[in-house]
Amino acid sequence: MKIGIYPGSFDPVTKGHLDIISRAEKLFDKLIVAVMVNPDKQSTFSASERVEMLRRATSSLPNVEIDSFDGLLAEYAKIYHATAIVKGLRALSDFEYEFQMALTNRKLNADLETIFLSTNAENMFLSSSMVKQVARFGGDISPFVPSCIAKDIQQRLLQEREAKRESNQ
Ligand code: COA
Repeated sequence: MKIGIYPGSFDPVTKGHLDIISRAEKLFDKLIVAVMVNPDKQSTFSASERVEMLRRATSSLPNVEIDSFDGLLAEYAKIYHATAIVKGLRALSDFEYEFQMALTNRKLNADLETIFLSTNAENMFLSSSMVKQVARFGGDISPFVPSCIAKDIQQRLLQEREAKRESNQ
């Protein structure tokens, strides 16, 4: 059984991620989308919230499983005997960082390959941070995130902004 892992912080999942998931799931018998920890980032949504949003966004994709893991990606891949890690490449600026991660992961787990899928042109400049910024200021995020989770993200971030405003007064 060929198992692929698509890791990320998915804080929150966007249409850019979904595009990669729907293309990558065709390459494996099972694709595990893993909500992982990037220690350089402060997440907005909890791991369980991110898992739940991913589950809703991928409910029509039978080969996709959603999980979360707080540890090394190379170790996680060993546990599941994964064939490859899948990453989406947006622009040239992603390349150096992704290449560094791919080589580090292969040093930690010699059997682990990283496969890069190119992001669709329309998602080239999309990021989870950009989505959160638009939502916090009341902008329409429906072009950027799966429709089934857009309202929840918007509500949650507007409430958060309102609560911050009140605590600052
Ligand atoms: N379309 C649009 N946007 C995309 C995208 C796509 N196809 N793919 C990624 N992005 C965006 C993401 O939304 C994210 O935006 P943000 O910076 O605003 O949050 C940004 O691009 C970076 O995403 P990604 O490259 O997936 O990084 P990440 O921080 O989400 O995830 C981990 C990095 C979690 C996979 C990595 O830190 C990890 O493996 N952690 C586990 C610990 C470990 O093993 N560390 C050693 C690794 S060598």
